[in-house]
Amino acid sequence: MYRLSFLRTAAAAVFLVAPAVSAVDLGKHFEPGKLAEACTPCHEGHGAARTPMLKSESDVMCIACHQAGAAEPGRREALGMDSGADPADIRGEMVKPVIHRGARCVDCHSVHGIGRLQGLTGTGLDLGRQKPSPKRGFPTEASLCLSCHGTRSAMVSDPHDIGLLFDSRNPSFHPVLAIGVGEVPSLLPPLTSDSLINCSDCHTNDDARGARGPHGSRVPGLLGADYSIQDGQPESESSYALCYQCHDRTVVLDSDPFPYHRMHVADQRTACVLCHDAHGATAGRALIRFNEPTAITGVLASSSGRLEYSSEAAGMGGCYLTCHGVDHNPLGYGPMFTAEGRPRFADPGHDRNLGRYPAGVQAPPRPGTRPDDRKD
Ligand code: HEC
Ligand code: HEC
Ligand code: HEC
Ligand code: HEC
Ligand code: HEC
Ligand code: HEC
Ligand code: HEC
Repeated sequence: MYRLSFLRTAAAAVFLVAPAVSAVDLGKHFEPGKLAEACTPCHEGHGAARTPMLKSESDVMCIACHQAGAAEPGRREALGMDSGADPADIRGEMVKPVIHRGARCVDCHSVHGIGRLQGLTGTGLDLGRQKPSPKRGFPTEASLCLSCHGTRSAMVSDPHDIGLLFDSRNPSFHPVLAIGVGEVPSLLPPLTSDSLINCSDCHTNDDARGARGPHGSRVPGLLGADYSIQDGQPESESSYALCYQCHDRTVVLDSDPFPYHRMHVADQRTACVLCHDAHGATAGRALIRFNEPTAITGVLASSSGRLEYSSEAAGMGGCYLTCHGVDHNPLGYGPMFTAEGRPRFADPGHDRNLGRYPAGVQAPPRPGTRPDDRKD
């Protein structure tokens, strides 16, 4: 039960610790010109039941100020805001088709600031650095997210444990928890292979002018830009806009290390998600999870019953699978012979090989096909 003396004692406590944290920016709620008074815009004598004397249940209270028009003269004073207040509109996010259900505002935010959210310019992404957590007790944003979405214990293996996919011991992962290991010529500046990115670089408002953060989006997956996961869609700047924010579209489509991106993505209209997991892969290079017991709609075993991506290094690899009715048993790319001169794929049925052959080596005849049957 909270008593009326609570605020006085609490205020003393807050201000007593203040000198110790004075180097820390307490965040915008405590910045001059934003709220009319330090505590009363949110706490009052007879607050909502089972809350620390909050004006109303916390999410309702947050949204009262965090909505379009709340800072207009008239409403502003009634809500306890000052003339410099320009609170971001979160209510507008909560009515979008995809919202972050299952967590309250205060699950992700310490309202008594722990420091300003950084890089919130409202003008798009500020990439290449790890963001601090908006909630006290978590060193980074990712550690906050993974406290609910991630590793509960090193011994637990859970397919929904997103932390496992970002583990730096994996052969590939998007660099959220650690710097990546991939060969990634498509990265757009300022990103390099030494950059770190954040959950909220992908999971954020789809409207770059609106409030940043994983509150709401019209894109499934709560994504900051379009990402078509339907197979058979035409490729365009916008269909995979999420990826093309960080990866140069032309380089992805037309350059090594995978020389058949354009053929698959543009010509055959294969969605990125059929080959890549946006988070990571525990048993394959290049965010490819064919080697894991993970069902990917549309990707089936090859005629020999194998489902596998085999690749020793960037620029060479092969797949055993059936997709779009095409048997890959395997189909490879890159040099078809090892450094020792042995064929990299010795399987029978290796009848259509997309790979390059060393000068002077004749590609094997493809049984059962005439040259004009080829429709790569
Ligand atoms: C922007 C709104 C807001 C302002 C301003 C604010 N508080 Fe709070 N306060 C909250 C919310 C929301 C909680 C509940 C946090 C939770 O449930 O995690 C809370 C919780 C508390 C608690 C309970 C312990 C805790 O931290 O959870 C104390 C004590 C407290 N506030 C003191 C103060 C004092 C003193 C001031 C003024 C110096 C102040 N608050 C200003 C919103 C505010
Ligand atoms: C009394 C009105 C009011 C209430 C209630 C309120 N806020 Fe705010 N909030 C503001 C204002 C004003 C700002 C500063 C906006 C600006 O830059 O002018 C702000 C800023 C923020 C920021 C940006 C912080 C930063 O330092 O960059 C976050 C996050 C935030 N609020 C979350 C919350 C949450 C969560 C709640 C509910 C627990 C809440 N607010 C309740 C008025 C309010
Ligand atoms: C799942 C975690 C999560 C939940 C739940 C959440 N937020 Fe946030 N919020 C964030 C993160 C992360 C950011 C910072 C994003 C960034 O740095 O790009 C943010 C940013 C914000 C900002 C600053 C936006 C800007 O562009 O200035 C405000 C204000 C805010 N949140 C308020 C709220 C309110 C109000 C609620 C409840 C209705 C809420 N948040 C629920 C994670 C969350
Ligand atoms: C307090 C626990 C909690 C925290 C912290 C949290 N989440 Fe969630 N998140 C949930 C729950 C619960 C769901 C809903 C799961 C469901 O509907 O099956 C969810 C759903 C999601 C979804 C799926 C949305 C959809 O409908 O497709 C995404 C994406 C997501 N969270 C990202 C994040 C990110 C990014 C962060 C960190 C900024 C974060 N979450 C922090 C609990 C949390
Ligand atoms: C916020 C920026 C960002 C976004 C958005 C993004 N990436 Fe990346 N991606 C990176 C960075 C940085 C690396 C470099 C990691 C490394 O060096 O291994 C990377 C690496 C990769 C790799 C190579 C990984 C490896 O280990 O070989 C693939 C494949 C990839 N991204 C695919 C995608 C796809 C598909 C999308 C869209 C769903 C996407 N990326 C969206 C930043 C991003
Ligand atoms: C490079 C972009 C990118 C990054 C970084 C990223 N995600 Fe995702 N995430 C996606 C995409 C794309 C999907 C939807 C995939 C689909 O629908 O097949 C997704 C789906 C999800 C989902 C819902 C589906 C599921 O797998 O449960 C959750 C929850 C989620 N992400 C949480 C997180 C968290 C937590 C982080 C940070 C630790 C994070 N994501 C980082 C792109 C990203
Ligand atoms: C048919 C499977 C397939 C599809 C579909 C696919 N990729 Fe890839 N991608 C690969 C393979 C295989 C590699 C690894 C090449 C290597 O390192 O040998 C790769 C590598 C990459 C890389 C890292 C190398 C680079 O170019 O920087 C990025 C980024 C990437 N893909 C992005 C995408 C995006 C974005 C899409 C969708 C528009 C997509 N991929 C669709 C198979 C695919």
